[in-house]
Amino acid sequence: MSLSSHPHTFRLSPADYNALTTNAAAQPELYWEREGRRLTWTAEPSAAYCKEKGWFADGALNASVNCLDRHLEKRGNQNALIWQAEDTGNVLRLTYKALHERVCRMANVLRSLGVKIGDRVAIHLPSVPEGPIAMLACARIGAIHVVLFGGFSPEAIADRLADSGAVVAVTANVGRRGAKRIPFKTTLDAALALHPDAHSIRHVLVVSVTEDDVSMDAGRDQWLSPLLDAASSDCTPQHMPSCAPLFLLYTSGSTGKPKGIVHGTGGYLVWASYTHDLVFDHQDGDIFWCTADIGWITGHTYGVYGPLLNGGTVLLFEGMPSHPSPGRWWNVIQDHKVTTFYTSPTAIRALMREGDDVVQRYDLSSLRVLGTVGEPISQEAWSWFNNHVGGGRCAFVDTWWQTESGGIMISPVPGAVTEKPASATLPLPGIHPVLLDEQGVPKAGATEGVLCLRGSWPGRAISIWKDATLFERTYLQPYPGFYFTGDGARRDEDGYYWITGRVDDVINVSGHRIGSAEIEDALATEPTIAESAAIGVPHDLKGQGIVVYVVPRAEAPEDLHIRAVKAITSKVGRYAAPEHIHIVPDLPKTRSGKNVRRLLRKIACGETEGFGDLSTLANPEIVVALVELVQSTK
Ligand code: WT7
Repeated sequence: MSLSSHPHTFRLSPADYNALTTNAAAQPELYWEREGRRLTWTAEPSAAYCKEKGWFADGALNASVNCLDRHLEKRGNQNALIWQAEDTGNVLRLTYKALHERVCRMANVLRSLGVKIGDRVAIHLPSVPEGPIAMLACARIGAIHVVLFGGFSPEAIADRLADSGAVVAVTANVGRRGAKRIPFKTTLDAALALHPDAHSIRHVLVVSVTEDDVSMDAGRDQWLSPLLDAASSDCTPQHMPSCAPLFLLYTSGSTGKPKGIVHGTGGYLVWASYTHDLVFDHQDGDIFWCTADIGWITGHTYGVYGPLLNGGTVLLFEGMPSHPSPGRWWNVIQDHKVTTFYTSPTAIRALMREGDDVVQRYDLSSLRVLGTVGEPISQEAWSWFNNHVGGGRCAFVDTWWQTESGGIMISPVPGAVTEKPASATLPLPGIHPVLLDEQGVPKAGATEGVLCLRGSWPGRAISIWKDATLFERTYLQPYPGFYFTGDGARRDEDGYYWITGRVDDVINVSGHRIGSAEIEDALATEPTIAESAAIGVPHDLKGQGIVVYVVPRAEAPEDLHIRAVKAITSKVGRYAAPEHIHIVPDLPKTRSGKNVRRLLRKIACGETEGFGDLSTLANPEIVVALVELVQSTK
């Protein structure tokens, strides 16, 4: 599609984009110094970047002041947060003034419980206003928030509480998913009871989303609402060094243990503001809806920080896309006049299945920018979203980035970069992707390779919690001189990027990152399983689905399938449940004993030949056996 077919006026033109890109490349220090002025600092940074010290290193600031206080004069009565509850008639509108007041009260509650600068606070909540409020309250007092996704199992929560050393947890009595109730508090209780000596939680604050009662531990648990009412609405913000951690967020990699990605304050906030502004063509009066849960980085950067830093209005929706009826999302867009709608390819695939007539019943003319993130989007889904939801009038931003990058890295800029359906297009000004060959040498022109990044950028994670060496080993050492993203990509003759997917053992299920090793470690806890391998295969709805090969110890018990699923869902969470479990006598191995995943993937996808040279395997005969086994389950 050509740019001229957009009837909207976007802020940037192709010439502006070119100028920004040229300036950022020619004078990076000057460019980022200027972008640093997006924020309000209590100590101005003297330089943008220092390789040893990090971004805006000698600057100081407070994140909540940047998101709230500094807007009060001009935007005090503008909505900062609109919460659409699960029940249709229930809407809460918080102006900047009101949100500021709630954040201050919450911050005072945390302070009164003894939360200090640098302490970790776990946030385990459904999509309710208390989520963003708790995050900003932590930021106000210099505490580090650790948001835990609602879909995690008690084991997964327990691991993250232990690793982060969180001292307070904020949860809800229940979450609502349509007519269903999700037992947040009970799940957290189970997590705390699992390894009582491994965590440091002293207080649990409980949001009452519904009237449902839950058991409360007298010395430890308190309902949040009365504490907020009693707290002062005046709260002095803590000035923090630019590189002090703002939050930890756990994500999966190729090792079994999830990593606590550490994001700093100044650099991260500059990146959140810069990318939200550029990629979503932020304009006064915009209503920004990011459908991601705050348990993921998308919910942090575009559900909270980016839009608030820029004085925007965030819409937070508690419910599901199709409850009480298909079209609920479109209804939300219509009711709240959403201008900017940021979602996932997985959601689009599910919504497409409901049929075009569902969308047509709603007035979606308020939309100006559509965005997706999390996984590659097919041309079909891209076109459907663009035409049926965007009416062919909107800019479409397919944004590539990751937890570690803090914000968007490769994406069209509305009005400035011509889209190509299903391509993330071009790097944002200041970002330098490279495609490397297997030896780590950059490839020129139209080509395909391992996607790495040259140089740093303000949003880059500063470390892995308690394991700086692992950060170096994971991101900086695989391809010396570059930052390794874990993705592969193709670059076309126009310099456009097409992300091809992970090159490591990370599986992307509905936009959720899950490590093969994470699943295999979970299966290893089941005593009747000797060995296992988890791989990702294409899945119509989820993008990728998980297939597991399990080698039983001696005699396989009859309920081995059930045991395997239980091991995975209890250690990781339901979102990691496999599509298929193949019980097999052995796995194909190299002579040094490594599983050959390439073969396992092909066999799971139903291939029966073309496996290449098998003579290097220690046990080539197993390949035929596995093919027969998999075929017989079809
Ligand atoms: C991985 C990062 C970034 C927030 C959500 C996920 C994949 C992300 C795209 C895209 C193709 C994408 C990559 C990346 N990914 N965006 N537009 N096209 N793939 O964050 O959980 O850290 O996952 O998601 O594989 O590495 P995350």
